Amino acid sequence: MQLWWSDTSDSFNTRAAEVVVQTLTRKPDATFALPTGKTPMGLYAMLRARAAASGAAPWRKANWFDLDEYVGVGATHPLSYAGFVRAHLLDPLGIPEDKIRLLRGDALDLPAECRAYEQAIERAGGIDLAILGLGANGHIAFNEPGSSWDEATHVVELSAATRAANSQLSDGATIPLHGVTMGIATLRRARSILLLVSGESKRQALQALRLGTPDPAWPVTSLLGHPDLTVIAEEGLR
Ligand code: GLP
Repeated sequence: MQLWWSDTSDSFNTRAAEVVVQTLTRKPDATFALPTGKTPMGLYAMLRARAAASGAAPWRKANWFDLDEYVGVGATHPLSYAGFVRAHLLDPLGIPEDKIRLLRGDALDLPAECRAYEQAIERAGGIDLAILGLGANGHIAFNEPGSSWDEATHVVELSAATRAANSQLSDGATIPLHGVTMGIATLRRARSILLLVSGESKRQALQALRLGTPDPAWPVTSLLGHPDLTVIAEEGLR
C-alpha cells in the first residue's frame, strides 16, 4: 500500500488526477470505476480542467462504470449516483454512451442487473482503476461493515449511519433503505485501486486500514494486501 499525505486540497486532487491520467496514458481503453460523494468532486473538477486544456479525445476511448446506486433510483432522480458521475465527469468530457455503463437502481430485476453489470465489466476487460471514497464506518462503495468479502455486485441494506451521513448531501430527499453496489470481490479484482480519504469523520476508518489487520467490521481493510493500492489522505488525518 502506498500512502500519500496531502496538506492542501489542490495537492490531494492533483495527485489523484495524476493516477487517473497515468492509467489512461498507459492504457487508452482502460476501464474505470467511479465514486460519488464530496471527496471526489475536486478530482472531477481537475479532470474536467485537464480535459478542457488538452482535449478530451483520449478520455473517450476509456470505459466508465460507477461503484454503487440507491435501489429504486433511476438515472434522472436527484439522488442518483449515475446522474452524479454523469454531471461531474462523463457528460462534460463527452464520453460516448457505448463507453458508459452505470448501475440501474430502478431495474425491476435487480439480481439480473447485478449479473449483467458484472458481465459488462468482464466484457470491458475488467477494471483497471477503481477509484474509491471511504465511509466513516469504513464502507467502500456500499459494502457496509460485516459485508462478505467474496461477493460481486449485489443489493445491500444501508446502515443507519450511512443513511444519516448521506442525507447531508440529499437536499432533503429521503435516503433509500437499500443500495446496489460492486462487491468487495469486484473491487479487489481491479488491477489498481485508488482510495481517497478526506474529512475528519474518516479518521477511525483510516486508522483501521493503517493498523494493517483485515477486519470485517471495517470493510476498507479488505483492500489490505492488494498488489496495487494507492491511498491519498488529508494531512490532518495523520
Ligand atoms: C457514499 C458512497 C461511497 C462514498 C461515501 C463517502 O456512501 N456510497 O462510495 O465513498 O459515501 O462519501 P463522502 O466522500 O461524501 O464522504
